[in-house]
Amino acid sequence: IKTQVGIIGAGPAGLTLAHWLKKHGIEAVIIEHRSREYIQGRVRAGLLEQNTVDILKKLGLADRLVKEGQEHHGVYLNFDGKRVRVPFGQLTGGRNITIYGQQEVVKDLTEAWLAQSGQLLFEAPALELEGIETDSPKIHFEHNGEKGIVECDFIAACDGFHGLGRKSMPKDAYKEYSVTYPFSWLGILAHVAPSSEELIYAYHERGFALHSLRSEKVSRLYIQVENDDHVDNWSDEQIWEELSVRLGTEGWKLNSGPIFERSITPMRSYFIDNMQHGRLFLAGDAAHIVPPTGGKGLNLAVADVKHLVDGFRDFYEKASMQVLDNYSTIALKRIWRAQDFSNFMTTLFHKQYEHGSFHYQLQKAKFDYIQLSEAYATTIAENYVGLPFESFD
Ligand code: DHB
Repeated sequence: IKTQVGIIGAGPAGLTLAHWLKKHGIEAVIIEHRSREYIQGRVRAGLLEQNTVDILKKLGLADRLVKEGQEHHGVYLNFDGKRVRVPFGQLTGGRNITIYGQQEVVKDLTEAWLAQSGQLLFEAPALELEGIETDSPKIHFEHNGEKGIVECDFIAACDGFHGLGRKSMPKDAYKEYSVTYPFSWLGILAHVAPSSEELIYAYHERGFALHSLRSEKVSRLYIQVENDDHVDNWSDEQIWEELSVRLGTEGWKLNSGPIFERSITPMRSYFIDNMQHGRLFLAGDAAHIVPPTGGKGLNLAVADVKHLVDGFRDFYEKASMQVLDNYSTIALKRIWRAQDFSNFMTTLFHKQYEHGSFHYQLQKAKFDYIQLSEAYATTIAENYVGLPFESFD
């Protein structure tokens, strides 16, 4: 297969990149290790920043997102049973978030790509990258038991944390930074109407809890658990009881219902300080992981893609490598910001230290400050909805 940009991975990063390049007349082919059913069924977060929504709209990929997604204009933050609301629009000049499941984004983008006769091979694992330091790199892959090669000008590795992309960079081309948090999330999906029209993040002396949603009939909730905990340790009743206690505030009641999906997610911050080598560029989880608190993962992946598209356009329209050469530097600024914000939200709302301890008092002082200071609330709001790009096209 010959193309201009060979993309590994049909997640949000790879699919957005393919569509965006096509809009500017640049050819791309995607190869994806997993099956279509698998990537569309993979349950992930569902929080889209204003930037992400604007980009998908501009690419003409947001019809169902606009219809079925829910725009939220604020978020509730709880601490020891006390609740404050941070309004977004009013603190950020009208920027908001939209709740729409990541796998729905993947479904929409896959369908649209295939409908435009875009090339996308499922169950086609990348085996080896060749010639990334030359002008004609190759992706060796396997599909239906046969070996194949994508011959391209550039390789975009959008293949996740465990993908081949990062592993193909020379070890001395980057430094890595990694933090493992001493807790995990037990996440559930349940057939029950959301108990709150906006998200609730809660600190409780028994641990963190988050109330989110997917639709008028489906709620998405999370609780902090130990790293070595297992879903089988929890009955439905125990999960609802724990959520109800941790999210509790006066005069508010949690609706419960049948749980139809449950899983445990570890929490990690990871990134590398260089996301490119020769003609290989990494985007999304291939280059960085943030803890889920604040829902930045997908949005960071789409932001990487924005910068990559700028670079590829500069190359194909002006025969210049200048923007691509700067890709890591530009992308990493936003990644660092998101690492800081995700870490901030994580440490503010999780129980890591003894209730009542010095560190607990610092958490509480931050929470109290949100109520005291519009400047502080604005800091949270602008990071939560995502800092705007200077421009994009
Ligand atoms: C969701 C997940 C998050 O990590 C978050 O911060 C907000 C919402 C979600 O799955 O809906």
